[in-house]
Amino acid sequence: MNDQIVEVNISEWDTPSTQEQLITDLESGKVIHFTNLEFPISEIEQKYFTSEIRDKKSRNISLSVSGDIKGVVKNNEAESNLTKMLVRYRNHSHLLVNSILPCYKDHLHLAQTSFRPNQIVTRNQSWRADDKRLHVDAFPSRPNYGERILRVFINVNPHNVPRVWRIGEPFEAIVERFLCDTKPYSAWQAKILNAFDITKSLRSKYDHLMLQLHDSMKRNLSYQSNCPQITVEFPTGSVWICFSDQTSHAAMSGQFMMEQTFHLPTANQYNPNTSPLAILSRHMGRQLI
Ligand code: SIN
Ligand code: FE
Repeated sequence: MNDQIVEVNISEWDTPSTQEQLITDLESGKVIHFTNLEFPISEIEQKYFTSEIRDKKSRNISLSVSGDIKGVVKNNEAESNLTKMLVRYRNHSHLLVNSILPCYKDHLHLAQTSFRPNQIVTRNQSWRADDKRLHVDAFPSRPNYGERILRVFINVNPHNVPRVWRIGEPFEAIVERFLCDTKPYSAWQAKILNAFDITKSLRSKYDHLMLQLHDSMKRNLSYQSNCPQITVEFPTGSVWICFSDQTSHAAMSGQFMMEQTFHLPTANQYNPNTSPLAILSRHMGRQLI
């Protein structure tokens, strides 16, 4: 299991050196941990490193692709300074991904950037929303038709508190374990969800299966404790990336993290056969989108 995480010690975000093994590891669902990248936070930005900065109605502070910030308690100065910090992080993440994964460059779709100032351990959530349980990312309202979810995380805790994750077994093993429990897809249910705007577009067979895997994993407490897994500490300053729709992950403790999401069409992977869509289609013996 320890090989589910790979350490890389490059010191520049923009390192034009294609490491083929890193690409294979990432596309096979491993987490790539950059131990030596720097992301200075200014003194002004440090002022906002308090859980009070988050509007309690929002789960996180997030910056949309068009640059709108949401989730900050009403304070123009905080909004403007946090926007600058998130834009800087977005640009750094983009440089990193473009330099280590050059074939993705023209195909990546930029998605949201988030700042997560909440303490993980004290967060109280329903089992389905609880990211302390191992899961693969799948979102009920946002069907993605197999498009990949690539995320760049950084621990920016000012007090050197690590972000602690669990990383679970490979996607193929999750499919083998849970696919037999999934409920059949219902085309009329997908239409109703879409008609009532519960989903942003029609939920595909692929999206249905991914949600079922997400829920089956989180619901099963004995799986949560007993499945093959490792616990990893990401110290302050760590940057790590993974395909979060493929890598089984759970955030156990820590506070103050940023995350940049990118989407990538499966066809533009180095090896599209490793994608959740390809793996699920092989297991189901049919097309899912
Ligand atoms: C998640 O993506 O499930 C949570 C990651 C984190 O907050 O560290
Ligand atoms: Fe997640």
